[in-house]
Amino acid sequence: MPQPSEFTDRMLSLGLARVSEAAAIACAPLIGRGDEKAADQAAVDAMRKELNKLDIAGVVVIGEGERDEAPMLFIGEEVGAGTGPAVDIALDPLEGTTLTAKDMPNALAVIAMGPRGSMLHAPDVYMDKLAIGPGFRRGVVTLDMSPSERVSALAAAKGCSTTDITVCVLERPRHEDLIAEIRSTGAAIRLITDGDVAGVMHCAEPTLTGIDMYMGSGGAPEGVLAAAALKCMGGQIFGRLIFRNDDERTRARTAGISNLDRVYTRDDMVTGDVIFAATGVTDGSLLPGVKREVGHITVETLLMRSKTGSVRRMIYRNPVR
Ligand code: FBP
Repeated sequence: MPQPSEFTDRMLSLGLARVSEAAAIACAPLIGRGDEKAADQAAVDAMRKELNKLDIAGVVVIGEGERDEAPMLFIGEEVGAGTGPAVDIALDPLEGTTLTAKDMPNALAVIAMGPRGSMLHAPDVYMDKLAIGPGFRRGVVTLDMSPSERVSALAAAKGCSTTDITVCVLERPRHEDLIAEIRSTGAAIRLITDGDVAGVMHCAEPTLTGIDMYMGSGGAPEGVLAAAALKCMGGQIFGRLIFRNDDERTRARTAGISNLDRVYTRDDMVTGDVIFAATGVTDGSLLPGVKREVGHITVETLLMRSKTGSVRRMIYRNPVR
């Protein structure tokens, strides 16, 4: 019999799905309404309310920001009923606020949970990221390779031409050189305007999404969430923190990071077994978005456990009262 203080991932997983479902449903009236802040607030409120119903003694390690800048779900906030296992929580109630405001693809409500001390306390700085899906030997691509070397190495491992590889990249001026170098190999690029958690997750389902590899810099907190997702789905992710000034270096040290140049693997970012739930907010290639019909709202959730590698797709219909 498991002790009450153990991380009972099997029992908690359905509860976690309810948390991401609630955040996505709360966004429904705000999809395509041009108001990022209102959409984010609705998702935060709903996620926190549902999270606090779970029998966990949770601490937010990846959240809405530092305590002084985020009133709710801030880093260090204690969440849950306080009665169950001690767990770390990584969350983004609305990953893709602009995508939601503009009704563009792949906005998600995401949350991951693992035993206390199992997740990297990533400061809110950028992270250079590289991800591929499952089925490749460890280190077939690395952050130390140039972008074109990564494309060639993955093509060789897949037994295909570089022109058969598709790389997902955030469309940002800082990625101009990266994009040019990837294009020089003949590989295709799927440019996304936001949402690199989904971008990385796409690599784990290449047949469904058409994406083989993710490259480029984005939020470090999103890197940890993406690592949690790949820990369940399979696949590799590497991340190196990027510091633009001393303030960011100080924030990293305050978060307990001493080696600022370290390359983190998936299992460095998420050291224990986790459960992960993502609910579609806007339609995307991994998940459909929230559907509003007369009398009810329908959402779909990917619910995954790294211990077993189980991936569930759950459709939930909620009556509108
Ligand atoms: P929000 O949901 O907070 O809008 O963030 C979306 C996002 O696109 C992340 O997925 C990504 O990691 C980050 O922003 C990229 O940051 P920037 O917009 O500064 O390039």
